[in-house]
Amino acid sequence: MRTIAFATQKGGSGKSTLASSIAVAAHEAGERVFILDMDPQQSLMKWAKARGDVSVPVEAILPGKINAVMNSLAKSGVTLCVIDTAGTESTATAAAMKAADLCIIPARPNAFDLWASDVTRRALREMRKDYVFLLNQCPPAQQNARISEGVEMLEKMGGLISPLIGARVDYQEAAGSGLGVTELNPGGPAAEEIRKLWSSIKRRLAKGKPATATRKAA
Ligand SMILES: Nc1ncnc2c1ncn2[C@@H]1O[C@H](COP(=O)(O)OP(=O)(O)O)[C@@H](O)[C@H]1O
Ligand SMILES: [Mg+2]
Repeated sequence: MRTIAFATQKGGSGKSTLASSIAVAAHEAGERVFILDMDPQQSLMKWAKARGDVSVPVEAILPGKINAVMNSLAKSGVTLCVIDTAGTESTATAAAMKAADLCIIPARPNAFDLWASDVTRRALREMRKDYVFLLNQCPPAQQNARISEGVEMLEKMGGLISPLIGARVDYQEAAGSGLGVTELNPGGPAAEEIRKLWSSIKRRLAKGKPATATRKAA
């Protein structure tokens, strides 16, 4: 079983949104996926309730239980564990980061998110954990300068995983309906970029090598 955790000390950067859509895309690609919701706000527990099926199960757990839960998930044949965390420093977030093979740090292309990314990166470096940045909610192509700045800053800080994720209504609609974007609108651009993102994450998990982001706006 491989484990990815979405983490950054910043609310609203898209952790829960991306975790749910990635979990669904990985499920569609043949993984046996299980989501651990470690955010007290329990966004993904609510998502699961709206979803109403068990194809991508979600469970809320306390940090002290994480090792036991992950052992039993691995034994039961789960191949991918996706952990969603709160946008604050907490015991639960630290436990999730420690448990993950790869931490994904989403950031919007703005100064506050990028600064918060650096705080998370430092914490992960101290823990000697593997991490990648992910640029989310990128504005349409005409605002390219801001995206380029974000790409440059994150590249300087470490690996930036591709592709860049656009700001798209599909992400909001899918999350609210208990779906992934690949289910909501399988032929749409959000679905396409999430499938690509899953491929990049999978490659990274397999080889431990970052996929390079392109500068093309989403
Ligand atoms: N790529 C995206 N495009 C459009 N809206 C997005 C995107 N990613 C996240 N959002 C929206 O941004 C808000 C915060 O996302 P959320 O996943 O709750 O962040 P976090 O879990 O990091 O606090 C939500 O309203 C969500 O719908
Ligand atoms: Mg969240």
